[in-house]
Amino acid sequence: MAKIAVIGSINMDLVVETDISPKKGETVLGSNFFASPGGKGANQAVAAARLGGEVTMFGSIGKDQNGEILLANLLEENIDTTYINILDNIPTGVAVIEICEKDNRIVVVPGANKYTNEEYLTKVAESLVSFDVILMQLEVPLESIVFMTKYLSPYDKIIILNPAPAIAIPEEVLTRITYITPNEHEYLTVLNTSSSIEETLRKFPTKLLITCGEKGVVYCDGNSVITVPSIKVDVVDTTGAGDTFTGAFGVAISEGRPLREAILFANTAAGLSTTKMGAQKGMPTREDVENN
Ligand code: RIB
Ligand code: NA
Repeated sequence: MAKIAVIGSINMDLVVETDISPKKGETVLGSNFFASPGGKGANQAVAAARLGGEVTMFGSIGKDQNGEILLANLLEENIDTTYINILDNIPTGVAVIEICEKDNRIVVVPGANKYTNEEYLTKVAESLVSFDVILMQLEVPLESIVFMTKYLSPYDKIIILNPAPAIAIPEEVLTRITYITPNEHEYLTVLNTSSSIEETLRKFPTKLLITCGEKGVVYCDGNSVITVPSIKVDVVDTTGAGDTFTGAFGVAISEGRPLREAILFANTAAGLSTTKMGAQKGMPTREDVENN
C-alpha cells in the first residue's frame, strides 16, 4: 500500500451554532456548543485514514489537555503519530468556529502549529523521503512548504497542496508540486491572478484542481476543461469538506487511479462529510464512499 504523509496543522475546534451571526459590538445567544478535533492537516489525515490510506502525521501540539485529546484522536484513527512535535509551554492550536445558516466563519490561533517550521522539518525530512504521497496545507508557516518542496524535489513524490487559508504561493513551489486544490475564491489569491477560472486552469493543466462546492471540481486535462460533478446531499455543516476532498484525493492518487476517477472519489467523500456536524465526524469510510 502507498504511504501517505500529512504535514500540517492540528487544532481543537471550538464550535458554536447560532441562528444569528453577531455584528460588531453585538452579543447574541447561540443554540449549541461543542469541542472536537480539527485543523486542516489533522482533518486530511483522518479523511485519508478512514478511506484506507496508510497515514503518518507530521505536525505540532502543545503539552496541554487539547494536545492530549488530539493525539489520542489521531491514534484512534489509525494514524502514525511517531513524528509529532510536542512542545512545552506553547498552547495547542485552536479554531473558533461559528456555524450560522450552514455557513461557517473560522478564526484560527495557530499556537504550536507555528513550530511546524523549517527547524522541525529539517529533523524529520529524511523520514519523509519514504512516503509516496505528501499532503500539505497553509496553516503552518509558508517557509515549511518552500523548504519541503525543495527538499523533496530530487525524489519522485506526489505532492498535493491544499492552499488554505489562501495566500500567494511562490512560483518555485508551484512548479514543484503535483496538484494544488484551491476553491473557486481562493485560486485568485493563491495564484496571484485576476484571470477567469477557465483561463487559469489552462495555464496549469492536470495540476490545478478548483473545487466549486456543489458545482463540482474543474480542471484542464491539457485540451479541455473538465467538470467532475459532486454528489447531491443534505448539507448540515461544510467545515472540513475541503480537507476531506484533499485527503480522499490523496488516497485515490496513491492507488494510481486516473485523475478524473480520483476526483470523483474525493467529491463523493467530501459531499458525504457535509451531512454531519463537525470537521471529522461526518468523514466517510471506504465502504460509505463505495456504496454511494
Ligand atoms: O478546514 C477546516 C478546519 O479549519 C477546521 O477544522 C479548523 O480547525 C480550521 O483549521
Ligand atoms: Na462535517
